[in-house]
Amino acid sequence: MTIQRFVGRPDWYTTFNPETLAATGTPLRWGVVATGSIARTVTSDLALLEDAVLQSVSSRGQASAAAFAQDFGFAAHYFDGGPDGSAGAGYLQLVADPDVDVVYIATPHAQHYDIARAALENGKHVLCEKALTITAAEARTLIALAREKQLFLMEAVWARFVPGFQRALEIIESGEIGEVQWVRADLGFPAPLDDSARIWAPADGGGALLDISVYPLLWAWGTLGRPDSLHAAAKLTDLGVDAQNALSLSYANGAQAQLISYLGAQGPRTASVAGSLGYIETVGSVNNPKGLKISVGWDSERTEMFEYPGRGYTYQLREVTRCVQAGLTESATMPLDDSLAIMELFDEARRQMGVHYWNDTRTDI
Ligand SMILES: NC(=O)c1ccc[n+]([C@@H]2O[C@H](COP(=O)([O-])OP(=O)(O)OC[C@H]3O[C@@H](n4cnc5c(N)ncnc54)[C@H](OP(=O)(O)O)[C@@H]3O)[C@@H](O)[C@H]2O)c1
Repeated sequence: MTIQRFVGRPDWYTTFNPETLAATGTPLRWGVVATGSIARTVTSDLALLEDAVLQSVSSRGQASAAAFAQDFGFAAHYFDGGPDGSAGAGYLQLVADPDVDVVYIATPHAQHYDIARAALENGKHVLCEKALTITAAEARTLIALAREKQLFLMEAVWARFVPGFQRALEIIESGEIGEVQWVRADLGFPAPLDDSARIWAPADGGGALLDISVYPLLWAWGTLGRPDSLHAAAKLTDLGVDAQNALSLSYANGAQAQLISYLGAQGPRTASVAGSLGYIETVGSVNNPKGLKISVGWDSERTEMFEYPGRGYTYQLREVTRCVQAGLTESATMPLDDSLAIMELFDEARRQMGVHYWNDTRTDI
């Protein structure tokens, strides 16, 4: 059976993959932009890769740049203004660093476009946190620039690479659960409403859609492909970002997906994929399930559990490293056309939900 799923499971992939950390070629010199929560988590996984060099980090502030550099052993650190106050933004100094090969961008969504663009214009490869940008128009421009300059660019959807997700695709492709009929997935957490925090602030591209929905969507996109129609509904905050959204996807073959993302509930955070013969359910969160329950027919059931090094980010970091070492400009597992198509879907979801960002009307891209 052939399902519409991502092209090309990484060839280094095995279900339990202790080899993710082993060098696959010339060491890659990394520059990390921002010192926030995910920058810290991903950098601690990056440090596990044998062929990763922690070269530079940038921050808006001197103290945070210096502390981050010291904690992880970065060779250089940059901050807004530089030592004499005249050096410009820290990230601009980092992208000009000749000893940096690849830039990992870990700022809020609203800064992704400008920083990724500056990195590409300075000849750097880029791994950019999700959402790649705020609008499809921004994504389209970045992708065109990366292709024109023949540089690697990838949206950091690490959940595509983790063993639990890749194994689910493998099981589905084997035909064990039959033809996929529907997908249900949810992800979120209860976050105190604070309009100034990046997940809530309109100026930062806040809201559940851009922050979370890529993960539940992954399960529909991976098993059924790009949907033929979308219905989106949301609960908005007073400032107009989605505190919760429900995406309902339909496919020409009759398959359906129901996806919920939320910032105000404690939910199961699981995915189910139901086929004509059986179903798969995640054990643990949709973005990195620690196991899968596979149920076929009425009385056959088993659970597979997965182990992985670090916090689960090493797989995407290995993929970036392997691609750049091999001279590839994009990953077959997280292709740029998928990032763009997902941003287009999110643009349409926002249109239906009534969520608008300043980026929707920007003219400088
Ligand atoms: N892959 C994942 O599992 C995962 C998980 C969480 C978040 N994310 C993504 O990672 C990104 C950052 O999220 P986060 O949770 O790490 O946020 P965070 O903890 O708020 O950190 C973001 C960092 O970006 C910098 N920053 C903040 N505001 C900025 C601004 N206006 N201009 C430039 N830089 C600014 C700050 O670093 P400095 O002070 O050092 O400049 C800040 O610490 C988002 O795209 C988010 O969707 C991914």
